[in-house]
Amino acid sequence: MDRIAITGGAQLNGVIPVSGAKNSAIKLMAASLLTDEPLRLTNMPRLADTRFLGKLLTRLGVSVTESDGPDGQQTILHAPEITSGFAPYDLVRQMRASFNVLGPLVARSGQAKVSLPGGCTIGARPVDLHLQALEALGAKIDLHEGYVYAQAPRGLKGAEISFPIVSVGATEHAMLAAVLADGVTVIRNAACEPELVDLQECLNAMGAKVEGAGTPTVTITGVARLKGATHSVIPDRIEMGTYAVAAAMAGGEVRLTNARPELIESLSVKLEEAGATVVRTEDGVIVKRNGSRLNAVDIETAPFPGFATDLQAQFMALMTTANGESHIRETIFENRFMHAPELMRLGADISVHGGEARVRGVAQLEGAEVMATDLRASVSLVIAGLVARGETVVSRIYHLDRGFERLEEKLGACGAQVRRIKGDGEPEL
Ligand code: UD1
Repeated sequence: MDRIAITGGAQLNGVIPVSGAKNSAIKLMAASLLTDEPLRLTNMPRLADTRFLGKLLTRLGVSVTESDGPDGQQTILHAPEITSGFAPYDLVRQMRASFNVLGPLVARSGQAKVSLPGGCTIGARPVDLHLQALEALGAKIDLHEGYVYAQAPRGLKGAEISFPIVSVGATEHAMLAAVLADGVTVIRNAACEPELVDLQECLNAMGAKVEGAGTPTVTITGVARLKGATHSVIPDRIEMGTYAVAAAMAGGEVRLTNARPELIESLSVKLEEAGATVVRTEDGVIVKRNGSRLNAVDIETAPFPGFATDLQAQFMALMTTANGESHIRETIFENRFMHAPELMRLGADISVHGGEARVRGVAQLEGAEVMATDLRASVSLVIAGLVARGETVVSRIYHLDRGFERLEEKLGACGAQVRRIKGDGEPEL
């Protein structure tokens, strides 16, 4: 398996274009199941996760064509008919969000059999809210042997869906199912993440009637059919935030383009509090640090517009060399500090008590061999490696390849010493 080696010490100077958002792209791809006309998605990232989903969609009857279009990387998805309503375990377990094909399949063809996604390193991550939403819309749900059987032979019906907790995936799933339901659906306590707004814009371009995404109440007036459309995927705020943290960590000046400053505002405020300079621009941010040591600051993860849980690991890496003691509280997932022991292998001083980590900044990290445990955790190790003395080698980087497009190239263009070591085919223990 491949590994990534980082030689620490180089400042970052240059421009990094932000890719389209992975977390949005995979829900937009699922929307292609809702129409017999082609959906053209532009600003598409090329990632392991989009490939996994492409494979599953192909099994369901969608032709998935990736190409370089007039406006950059695009994917055209076309499902003239649904040839199968079966999403097997081996495909769904590779990428949890594949589960979101369930709603569109039931909405379009009245039935589906989709594997439950199974466990996940960052927590239990159940799908009860997804199922609750589909049941509210009139689907009959049965669970057998790890599979969800959903049926709505006479179509879904508009309904009130009130979520007890905020869930990005369940809100998106409810939207994807309700657009073809008969009547009006109101989703309360909806997630407000920008990816929800992106999904609303795409669905509306396809002829749906969705209002309110980005607020806690989303209203969907069902339509009988949807048509094809072209939609540009929203910039990836997690990739953007990751490189913003990397620049603050390594020092130098990095301009992030092809994005929007408000997508990472909660992070920018914390970077400024720590002593970095953040300039908001028309298409992103410029992050600068002139060499003076950053100060420790506290963060607590929260739904958007709060501090993103997907940036928590990266921020913890940043705090490992800050001046003072930082408290990092994780409120979204119960087991999201797997990166802490790996950062400690690099010399970080971290202690974890339940949902809170205490990071005491050290003057210098030391390069070591470390292991990626999940997508965002793996990039936090790369960030730490940027300043660690000597070489840091990160293994199990298939996690990284799930969500970061051309990471070595983008960091390398700014002067980072990052290289991929091709694996020998041996599985890692
Ligand atoms: C999405 C993102 C992920 C991000 C997360 C929170 C994608 C592909 N992934 O994940 O990167 O970290 O939002 O911003 O978009 N929950 C339940 N029951 C459910 C669903 C969720 O209890 O049916 C819980 C989860 O266990 C978690 C919390 O709700 O504790 C929030 O999870 P959710 O917002 O659903 O995250 P995802 O959509 O899975």
